[in-house]
Amino acid sequence: MDGKEGYAVRKSMEILVALGEIFGAKSLIDVGSVQVAGVSYHNLGDAGLEFLNSLAADGKVKVLTTLNPAGMDLENWQQLGISPDFADKQNQVIDAFERMGILISCTCTPYLIGNLPLYGEHVAWSESSAVTFANSVLGAKTNREGGPSALAAAFVGKTPCYGLHLDENRIPDIHVQVNTPLTKLSDWGALGYAIGKKAENKIPYITGVKAAELDELKSFCASVVTYGAKPLFYIKGITPGAELQKQPTQTVTVEQADIKAAYDAINDDVSDIDFVCVGCPHCSIKEIQEIADLLKGKKVKAGTELWVATSRTAKQLADKRGYTATIEAAGGKFACDTCMAVAPLKGRFKALATTSAKGCFYSRQNLMKTKMGSMKECVETAVSGKWNN
Ligand code: F3S
Repeated sequence: MDGKEGYAVRKSMEILVALGEIFGAKSLIDVGSVQVAGVSYHNLGDAGLEFLNSLAADGKVKVLTTLNPAGMDLENWQQLGISPDFADKQNQVIDAFERMGILISCTCTPYLIGNLPLYGEHVAWSESSAVTFANSVLGAKTNREGGPSALAAAFVGKTPCYGLHLDENRIPDIHVQVNTPLTKLSDWGALGYAIGKKAENKIPYITGVKAAELDELKSFCASVVTYGAKPLFYIKGITPGAELQKQPTQTVTVEQADIKAAYDAINDDVSDIDFVCVGCPHCSIKEIQEIADLLKGKKVKAGTELWVATSRTAKQLADKRGYTATIEAAGGKFACDTCMAVAPLKGRFKALATTSAKGCFYSRQNLMKTKMGSMKECVETAVSGKWNN
């Protein structure tokens, strides 16, 4: 804090100490990795870019640090209709992060590309779905950092020890009994909506879920925190550490009617769809394979765009397996490094179809009507331009 390590470290220590004082932290704690959000120029503006450049002048990260999605595909931005002015500013943002020594990963699924914390490891991540995944599915420990506090942790290698870093704050305080089967990916988004509303600002301990795949948990993490819960949950028999926790006494249930009500709340009354976007959180290679299989021999309807949002790493695997060629031959577009929430899309599309409850939440803020359904329903909508459910 005395400035001996330069401006970026001094500024970072000021941020971390202020945070620690506000939340009553007794000490700083070492972090194993950092995930930085606040990458899109659309959200940062010139003031944010200036702040990043001031830190990049002498700041170098001390731990593995990965980056959340940016406002555009860093290579194929023109194909996605991004203006050259925006691209220029976005590239300046990326350049500042690169000078800091941050991996230009531009994904909200850093755990799929090598930033994979261990059980019990302290990290400082921002981006609500990734934070929830780290805490709940991996059993790592992180607060929901803002962009500046995550960056500060990266420059210092430490974060204030409060909140979800402390075991006493990781105890579940509401029991959610799920009494309905989950049959498709978007049901997990609907479940996240239902639980998020019932467990507002609480840590749910969930029972009644028989099995879960990685992509389902990824989707649930995004949804449950977007719609109100804390970025930590336990699913009995599925997520790590659930067996160490006591079932809370307050119990609520999720019934078939709650799932239907979630779909009703998320879905607007619209049938003509001009934008289909899957990959919120970013698509895994398995999801890309599914999209390629569903699109084989078909064509995306003229006047409708299909975006597959994913990390560049997953796209490189898809290139090798031929999935990219199949999707692009059908008229689909890859949106690497970016997503529907952080790209400058306001006013560009009227109606979205997606697999993601979180995607619907943010796309409404971009003035789109929304529909949520399975991967199959989304791909069929891309081909017909109509939502048929
Ligand atoms: Fe990721 Fe963007 Fe969704 S950051 S979780 S794809 S809103």
